[in-house]
Amino acid sequence: MDRRFITGTLALLVGCGWVGQAQSGTTVLVNADHRAAQSLNGDWHYIVDPYDGGLYNFHREIRKDGFFLNGVPETGSNGLLEYDFSKSPTLKVPGDWNMQNESLFHYEGLLWYQRDFAYQLIADHKTFLHIGAANYKLIAWVNGEQVCRHEGGFTDFDCDVSTSIHGGKNFIVIAVDNTRLANGVPTLNMDWWNYGGLTRDVSLIDVPGTYIDDYDLHLSRERTAIEGSVHVQNAVAGEAVSVSLPELSRSVSVGLGTDGRASFSLSSSGVALWTPEQPRLYKVHLETGKDALDDTMGFRTIEVRGTDILLNGKPVFLRGISIHAEAPYRSGRANSQQDADTLLGWAKELGCNYVRLAHYPHDERMTRTADRLGLLVWSEIPVYWAEDFANPVVLAKAQQQLSEEIRRDRNKVSVILWSLANETPLSPERTTFLKTLAADVRSLDSTRLVTAALLVRSKGHDKYVDDPLGESLDVIGMNEYIGWYEGTPQDADSTHWHIAYQKPVIVSEFGADAKAGLHGAATERWTEEYQASIFRHQLPMLAKIPQFRGLSPWILMDFRSPMRQLPGIQDGFNRKGLISDQGQKKQAFFVLQSTYKEWEAEAAAKKNLYTEGDH
Ligand code: GCU
Repeated sequence: MDRRFITGTLALLVGCGWVGQAQSGTTVLVNADHRAAQSLNGDWHYIVDPYDGGLYNFHREIRKDGFFLNGVPETGSNGLLEYDFSKSPTLKVPGDWNMQNESLFHYEGLLWYQRDFAYQLIADHKTFLHIGAANYKLIAWVNGEQVCRHEGGFTDFDCDVSTSIHGGKNFIVIAVDNTRLANGVPTLNMDWWNYGGLTRDVSLIDVPGTYIDDYDLHLSRERTAIEGSVHVQNAVAGEAVSVSLPELSRSVSVGLGTDGRASFSLSSSGVALWTPEQPRLYKVHLETGKDALDDTMGFRTIEVRGTDILLNGKPVFLRGISIHAEAPYRSGRANSQQDADTLLGWAKELGCNYVRLAHYPHDERMTRTADRLGLLVWSEIPVYWAEDFANPVVLAKAQQQLSEEIRRDRNKVSVILWSLANETPLSPERTTFLKTLAADVRSLDSTRLVTAALLVRSKGHDKYVDDPLGESLDVIGMNEYIGWYEGTPQDADSTHWHIAYQKPVIVSEFGADAKAGLHGAATERWTEEYQASIFRHQLPMLAKIPQFRGLSPWILMDFRSPMRQLPGIQDGFNRKGLISDQGQKKQAFFVLQSTYKEWEAEAAAKKNLYTEGDH
């Protein structure tokens, strides 16, 4: 074994294997979707690599001639290379691989992506590779040089490729592995399809050497000022940065500190506050040195007082629905403007002013569209079911996903709730873990509310919401399935709720499976009539809960899940949608729609008669 190889291998081992640190060389460029970019979407060659052979040799050591080098097989005696991207099939990016090729439908493992691209370098600029999302683990190389590694399937990130990219012809190789991990977030089992791949947009973004990478603008608690801060990378202390709202001919210029950050405040007089009924958005322009950025933002305050959620100081009731990022009609990961318009359009049609984006951050188009359509948003990280809460590695992964989520969406006016977790089993380790996340949220974003979807403790018809985590939440989320996983729809009529907290309660899930078009008696499971009956009994029950301030029934549209295998009914889909994956509206859709219409009319009538605890 030659010496040089040994050292080389060690460098590679540390540099790019799945071993060791899962995350390096990534950041999140705020408002990246408004930056000029060269899209890398389209057809990418791929190689399926279930044994990680493109990365490791037979002794599980990192190969020096790994697939990341994008080698070209030679002819004649030297041709030992056993792969060739240029002759390999292609997959569309963005898109999960499962729905693109029957043979990949159930595939979980490593898959290599490769494409060539031409690039024009701009002097004194940096270049970032922007990944909208890659499920689950990713390593990226540009021209054979590793540029970053990332873990987490649902958050955007950016990798600095300035030292690896060059003018003219380039190639990029990305390894993505969607293997479920015991210490992953999410962990081994989840009730959704583990769609793998480069599931959202991929592009190259150029920024000047000194550039704005982060900012936060929000309405002050008193609703008298628009305040916030900006961070500029590679800035000189004292350098000016300006923030302006051209439509209000308002702007401020402030000097950056030694940390490249500056805080500012502008008067908010004349600003129309954002509400679901009037989702007014404003152009925002930020500028420093050679860098300039435009954004579109709305301004509102959100807070709790007692058991009320106050939007701009007035009580608001959240008429919502839960949504998975499942693409309508074509199935697979939702990732287009069309997907966002269809899903959120249905939510509006239902009479919603609010949506729960479950169980992970959705494509940025969803929150942008919610800003525009006037839908309040519950956003969540996939701390889902039985995570290994005692494991600090798991906590670090959850914290990283949380900070990526908040950094991307903290300027989205629609987002009002950061959810820490869903249906996690009680234990001291779990509660400590989630309390740590709650503290993280408050230090990253003190302008929004912290919540989580809690489980309910049952004693017959008595239901208890007394999870100790409730102390650390601003809003209590609770999931209950009376009439489906327990009892009959009628049991809701005689259910008594015991909620240990004088805080607003959102019923984050209830519902039932129904196969669209399957009809029968209201007592017959899997029929539309049974699902509708669940809603008819649930809604009046919930309305009696004094702290009841919102709901997001499970779920807007049927979605794929390997846990749902009842032939002829589920066929690999969770059928709790009010709409089938092919757009058929079930009876329950109209039951909820008419109730929401009623409640909306009531809320409008009471709007000016603000009294504590009304909905
Ligand atoms: C759970 C869970 C969902 C799941 C749903 C169901 O409550 O949060 O992810 O899909 O129930 O069982 O349908």
